[in-house]
Amino acid sequence: MEEDIDDYILSHIDAEGDLLAQLDHDTHLRILNPRMCSGHLQGRMLKMFVRMIRPRRILEIGTFTGYSALCLAEGLDDGGEVHTVEIDDELEDFIRSHVSASPFADRIHIHIGDAASVVPTIDGDFDLAFIDADKREYCEHYSLVFPRVRAGGFIIADNTLWDGKVVNLGGNKLDAQTAGILRFNDMIASDSRVEKVILPVRDGLTIIHKK
Ligand SMILES: C[S@@+](CC[C@H](N)C(=O)[O-])C[C@H]1O[C@@H](n2cnc3c(N)ncnc32)[C@H](O)[C@@H]1O
Repeated sequence: MEEDIDDYILSHIDAEGDLLAQLDHDTHLRILNPRMCSGHLQGRMLKMFVRMIRPRRILEIGTFTGYSALCLAEGLDDGGEVHTVEIDDELEDFIRSHVSASPFADRIHIHIGDAASVVPTIDGDFDLAFIDADKREYCEHYSLVFPRVRAGGFIIADNTLWDGKVVNLGGNKLDAQTAGILRFNDMIASDSRVEKVILPVRDGLTIIHKK
């Protein structure tokens, strides 16, 4: 049933386009843990959020193969930019070759390194931040980006339901990534500086509005 619904949704929303389909395909063929790639539905959602929020500057933590960065860039008005940070330098050639094939390549600035050291070197504030890196570091990444997002801006965090493990560990011991997500969700829930909602889409997306 769930698969049928997924297929139904994908056949009734915008297509992802040839370049993103190829990127998704290449990610599955050549890169470890391809499930981390945002993919068709989440990619279209990210683009739609950008259309709604109309940010000028976006910060992404966790580029992986560049799928979400391309979707965020696609939604921007002319002159907008995405700064995306990836710690794994082995992904750099893959990311650059796919991003450079996009008509939105000039909107995307790729930074290779640990977000904790790279983000402070990027000038200026952001209207939207997308947190999608190591789940163990979500609280630290939130604290890192929060002062860089302007009042009235948004932070979106991915995977905040973590395959349902936030409520049911399925008999397994609490692992570090689940603990990181639990800590993050509690931190956001008690942060009175922001309004927040969790969308139960894909693996859970938390949308945070900085007051
Ligand atoms: C879930 S993937 C990102 C998926 C991508 N945003 C997308 O939607 O297609 C997480 C990525 O974050 C990167 N990462 C992990 N820790 C990081 C850090 N401290 N700074 C920057 N990138 C990091 C990982 O190497 C991995 O490529």
